Amino acid sequence: MIFKQGYSIEELRNKKTLIILGVESSCDETSAAVVVNGIDVKSNVIATQIEIHKRFGGVVPEIASRNHTLAMRPVVEEALAQANVTLDDIDAYAVTYGAGLVGALLVGVSFTKALAYAEQKPLIAVNHIQGHIAANYIAHNDLTPPYLCLVVSGGHTALVIVKDYTDLEIIGETTDDACGEAFDKVARVLGLPYPGGPHIERLAKSGRVTIDLPRAFKNDKAHYNFSYSGLKTAVINYVHNAEMRGDEINKANVAASFQAAAVGVLADAAERAVKDRGADKIVVAGGVSSNTYLRETFEKRFKKVYFPPVKLCTDNAAMIAAAAYFKLKSGADPAPLTLNAEPALKLYQ
Ligand code: KG4
Ligand code: ZN
Repeated sequence: MIFKQGYSIEELRNKKTLIILGVESSCDETSAAVVVNGIDVKSNVIATQIEIHKRFGGVVPEIASRNHTLAMRPVVEEALAQANVTLDDIDAYAVTYGAGLVGALLVGVSFTKALAYAEQKPLIAVNHIQGHIAANYIAHNDLTPPYLCLVVSGGHTALVIVKDYTDLEIIGETTDDACGEAFDKVARVLGLPYPGGPHIERLAKSGRVTIDLPRAFKNDKAHYNFSYSGLKTAVINYVHNAEMRGDEINKANVAASFQAAAVGVLADAAERAVKDRGADKIVVAGGVSSNTYLRETFEKRFKKVYFPPVKLCTDNAAMIAAAAYFKLKSGADPAPLTLNAEPALKLYQ
């Protein structure tokens, strides 16, 4: 296939300066970014819908899709303007095609396919979780596969061996809720707004670990799995029982106790995996990796740990453009214009 600038895909792959426009719309953030060579972020515009979904206590998929359609064009235009480039300067278009909310994903996928078609430039399909992982490449230029990675987001909690940029093996994962999901549910029980993670973190700062909460698989050395439903239920029961008795609960202590248990099991499993696999470092990715307590815990327990910059931990398009760059460089072909949204895409696909 020959693209508009007269390049073949091989020539594009070997181009010294590759400018990618990334698009992300898998949940409640509409984002577009211009990234040069996978690491140099020229712009990263994020239009968040948090205020819209807050009053419902979580993301309402239909409302998310509608707002993506309203925000998409201005966000892309702003990303191009901030990067001081035009569509002519872009070498390839990258978009999150899964996992996520199908209607939300479709807005980004359709928009980006239309751009690639109109501009006759390659379309790169990016797995959202591989995007979260790629946020680390932006900050740590020395980071190259293979390495051990802990993915902790609102939808995933897994220990993964990143063998190559697009070749991932899951060695442990949650058997029920994701860690971020547990943060959000516990926040709701404590009357904190959506998304709960940052609110739990803030509240926990003024609390102490006073409640003994379950830490699933803590003593199970056989695997690196996680389970958050028992921890979540224990917090819900603790709060409800206190309410039934008419006892005043110390919400800060509940938040601190929950956070310590939620992060503790992540660090325990990661420590086992690092030891068993002889890994020299652990890389953390996903929305929960912005949590300061998690960062401090991991810094204390591991010799070498990599996190994405805080502003690239939650959903953004810079990480999508970065992932697309490394995917293209490692030999993957562009996606066909028949690309569809894959709401249940696995993190290794
Ligand atoms: O990675 P992400 O932006 O979306 C998914 O791909 O799922 O993660 C969002 C999740 C939410 O559950 C949110 O509560 C959690 O990340 N989160 C946090 C923090 N910031 C975001 N959890 C704990 N502490 C935080 N500071
Ligand atoms: Zn995400």
